Amino acid sequence: MENNRKVTLTYNDGKDNLEMPVLKGTLGPDVVDIRSFSKTGMFTFDPGFLATASCESQITFIDGDLGQLYYRGYPIEQLAEKSDYLEVCYLLLNGELPTAEERKVFERGIMRHNMLHDQLMSLFKGFRRDAHPMAVMVGVVGALSAFYHDSLDINNPEHRKISAHRLIAKLPNIAAQAYRYNKGLPFSYPKNGLTYAENFLHMMFSTPCEEYKVNKTLALALDRIFTLHADHEQNASTSTVRLAGSSGANPFACIAAGIACLWGPSHGGANEAVLKMLDEIGSVENVPAFMEGVKNKTHKLMGFGHRVYKNMDPRAAIMKETCDEVLNELGLHNDPKFKLAMALEKIALEDPYFIERKLYPNVDFYSGIVLSAIGIPVSMFTPIFALARTVGWISHWAEMIADPAMKIGRPRQLYTGAQRRDYIPQEQR
Ligand code: SDX
Repeated sequence: MENNRKVTLTYNDGKDNLEMPVLKGTLGPDVVDIRSFSKTGMFTFDPGFLATASCESQITFIDGDLGQLYYRGYPIEQLAEKSDYLEVCYLLLNGELPTAEERKVFERGIMRHNMLHDQLMSLFKGFRRDAHPMAVMVGVVGALSAFYHDSLDINNPEHRKISAHRLIAKLPNIAAQAYRYNKGLPFSYPKNGLTYAENFLHMMFSTPCEEYKVNKTLALALDRIFTLHADHEQNASTSTVRLAGSSGANPFACIAAGIACLWGPSHGGANEAVLKMLDEIGSVENVPAFMEGVKNKTHKLMGFGHRVYKNMDPRAAIMKETCDEVLNELGLHNDPKFKLAMALEKIALEDPYFIERKLYPNVDFYSGIVLSAIGIPVSMFTPIFALARTVGWISHWAEMIADPAMKIGRPRQLYTGAQRRDYIPQEQR
């Protein structure tokens, strides 16, 4: 929305000023619309996009200073407490909470797509048994493009909808089969009638030999973890999905690109890195030495810090509560890793080094401890983040594709390489 505020670019060499409009959103900072900047013959320069709004969106709002996160206007604290992941999927995709009937139709729609094409199972077998499940997920999700030629017209809203449903439905199955293949277990199948999170646990841990009994408390905790990870504005992997989608690439290939980006330890790979860090520290006695290493930049305190949150990540606070509930449910309240993590958090929150840099625990700090307690292996932490974030990725992809003003994303650069020069024959070098 334009208001009458403007920003004027003035030159100190007498060139004409340039006026640029200021746009106001519903919430959050105003933005300077620099699209007319190209007239200047210059580019703006913002590596890492610390000061750049890449798009307009109505899906998720974050206030980093206040530690606020809203999905379609609803605070994450309320959704984590009162909603469930499939309802949050409907909300992110459609913009409103579903009625009972809408929920039923949506849930049935997801359920009917949760099996994998049998031919796809051969793809898993092409990987080494010890392949990281994220490598398998990038490959198998990308390969879904080869199976759905009937619904790849991205300009057809029905095709966009069925692709979104297929991805939300199949990602847990793909993640679970990647785990089972790694373990040498036979592939499993979804069991309709279970909730989304119960079905994931069933696909992960059931065996053909006996009935798998889902622990409802653990399934509820996992469902909440999915909700906390569902979307997060224009983070690196969501921006990757948008950029891939802006070329017209099919949604399966775009989500595979998002999974690849999420894998990095600075992003979704941090939950796995937190557990490795806690194992490395070992005990509270070793924390001071570890913190010294952080301050002299030998290593980072994984699970801390965030590009946007300069206050507590609201998801971390909910994750910590969930951690407490799960550990109590399992009689693990003396879990040494949880105690070490709480000691680490307390020390960091009181240390000027972290206070000055506004480094607080983020969503990844406690998620690994909860997942570990549920029995999920460390290698599956980021795949779980990926399956939960798929709805956010595909919601942003669909929002962008539906925008008639969408253009292919094509940033420019500040070139500091060699001047023009002529080729030198090898004998003269
Ligand atoms: C996620 O963007 C999203 O929304 C992501 C996410 C989502 O839901 O999609 O929220 C999920 O990715 C959460 C973040 C998970 N990553 C980690 O926990 C890895 C550890 N965190 C850091 O790598 C870092 O904090 C980032 C990458 C998350 C943010 O980095 P920035 O914003 O680029 O900040 P920076 O690297 O410029 O750091 C500023 C200062 C530096 O110190 P100085 O040079 O000023 O002395 O803070 C320091 C950094 O060295 N710093 C840390 C630190 N994070 C930043 N020092 C120690 N430990 C850390 N974790």
